[in-house]
Amino acid sequence: MRDLAPKDRLIAALDVPALDEARSLCRQLAGHVGLAKVGLELFVAEGARAVRVAQDAGLPVFLDLKLHDIPNTVEGAARSAARLGIRMLTVHAAGGRKMIGAARAGLESAAGERPLLLAVTVLTSLAPADLAAQSIDGSVEEHVVRLARLAVEAGADGLVCSPHEVAAIRAALGAAPVLVVPGIRPAGSAPGDQARAATPRAALDAGADYLVVGRPLREAADPAQAARRIAEEIG
Ligand code: C5P
Repeated sequence: MRDLAPKDRLIAALDVPALDEARSLCRQLAGHVGLAKVGLELFVAEGARAVRVAQDAGLPVFLDLKLHDIPNTVEGAARSAARLGIRMLTVHAAGGRKMIGAARAGLESAAGERPLLLAVTVLTSLAPADLAAQSIDGSVEEHVVRLARLAVEAGADGLVCSPHEVAAIRAALGAAPVLVVPGIRPAGSAPGDQARAATPRAALDAGADYLVVGRPLREAADPAQAARRIAEEIG
């Protein structure tokens, strides 16, 4: 994985409400990015068809469902996800060791290549005051690293984290965890609601393995060309 071609490190977020738009985006981006990310909006609307649309276009799928439930339920959901032939699945690290271990067991119990299990630590939408309101002590970064360590010890292959957390997680956990990083803005593109974004180059230099890119691709006049530019920037 560490010797991936630049374009294969790009994950296009299919943050669209319906299948037609997802299909069109996948057809434009196939061959120019490594994976497509199917998140809650599209999956709730279209279910497994959304996964197949990306796969049919030749794009492996990162299924970003951020599962968080009792271990038995998450194990079953992870097994069902693995049966869709996806490449990566997310759970919330806050679900705890047993839940993460159950997710891993669910992924292992399906036939075929086991998808990578990624844990989400602290949502980047949460501010220090939000953690304090949940009686969580210390800084956001401390809590991120605490949850990241717990998740990896419990069986996660990697983590989803903001560009600004990559270095701290690498320092604490070393080179092994796969780090998937959203909040990516190529130089000169609009930040949108990403307050703590980074350029593709900066995120990779900090230690990211994969970059999740949504609006800079989706809103480009030519998404394929936008993807090629990012791949060149990091190449
Ligand atoms: O459009 P944009 O590039 O900001 O999209 C980023 C994608 O990564 C979205 O699908 C968003 O839900 C996801 N994401 C994020 N920040 C996180 C976790 C996921 O932006 N902390």
